[in-house]
Amino acid sequence: MIDDPTQITSVKRDVVPDMESEMNENLPFSGQRIAIIGGTAGIGAAMARLAERSGAVVITAGRAHLDIGSEDSIRSYFENLGTVDHLVISAASVQPGPFREGDISAARRSMEGKFWAQYLCARHAQVTRSILLFSGAFGRRPAKGMSILAAVNGAVEALGKALAVELAPVRVNVISPGLVQGTEAYARMPDAVREAMYAATAARLPAGIVGDADSIAGPALSLLASPYATGSVLDIDGGGLLV
Ligand SMILES: NC(=O)c1ccc[n+]([C@@H]2O[C@H](COP(=O)([O-])OP(=O)(O)OC[C@H]3O[C@@H](n4cnc5c(N)ncnc54)[C@H](OP(=O)(O)O)[C@@H]3O)[C@@H](O)[C@H]2O)c1
Repeated sequence: MIDDPTQITSVKRDVVPDMESEMNENLPFSGQRIAIIGGTAGIGAAMARLAERSGAVVITAGRAHLDIGSEDSIRSYFENLGTVDHLVISAASVQPGPFREGDISAARRSMEGKFWAQYLCARHAQVTRSILLFSGAFGRRPAKGMSILAAVNGAVEALGKALAVELAPVRVNVISPGLVQGTEAYARMPDAVREAMYAATAARLPAGIVGDADSIAGPALSLLASPYATGSVLDIDGGGLLV
């Protein structure tokens, strides 16, 4: 895995034994470069591990590499990166809160930190095969205090469909996770509160479990690999939209 785009040319292929090299050519992402903005943690990191095992050269980025809240930073990151086969944008920075009492500037920052971040990454990246955006279940199953996330996720899904038309033949898809345990979003909650939330969610969901980052990584990568998938929004949420 590479987290510095300037080091990509230093990947040593000549040290791979012949048999392994032949096997690698049959892997789904053999010879493909996948940039994962947000690939240093959570779902993005799980995707990076799986994509690498599936033959890809993966470039991961987090705050040490670019600031998704700054167009200048995004532009300069992608200028250095060059062309990739696939772009995944799992990085997000959101601050939900109650609609009436909440801080409006925090709501605006949430739109910047998730919707505009993905818009600008998709705009400045040079991609040959596919782009994967991230929304989330609150977009179509809102909860109190999450109105800005509902709006952000709805906007991301609309953007994904529009870009599937406008950027074709580059494919554009959206993945919409439900609650994903073990991710940063819940790291600062007291342990007991977090575990109670996971347990209550598992009890409500048809799947009977709360998924982790690995539960999302496989379905997310299938959208990159499937030549017939574009304009899709894939819900991986334990059936949460149904109950
Ligand atoms: N987790 C859930 O339950 C859940 C549910 C529904 C939807 N989603 C959505 O799924 C996506 C992935 O979520 P996740 O929980 O896997 O995320 P996460 O664990 O919070 O990871 C966030 C990633 O974004 C990067 N990042 C954060 N702020 C950044 C900035 N300003 N500039 C550049 N990179 C930045 C982080 O990099 P560094 O830490 O290295 O700086 C990290 O790699 C997000 O769009 C999220 O809204 C998540």
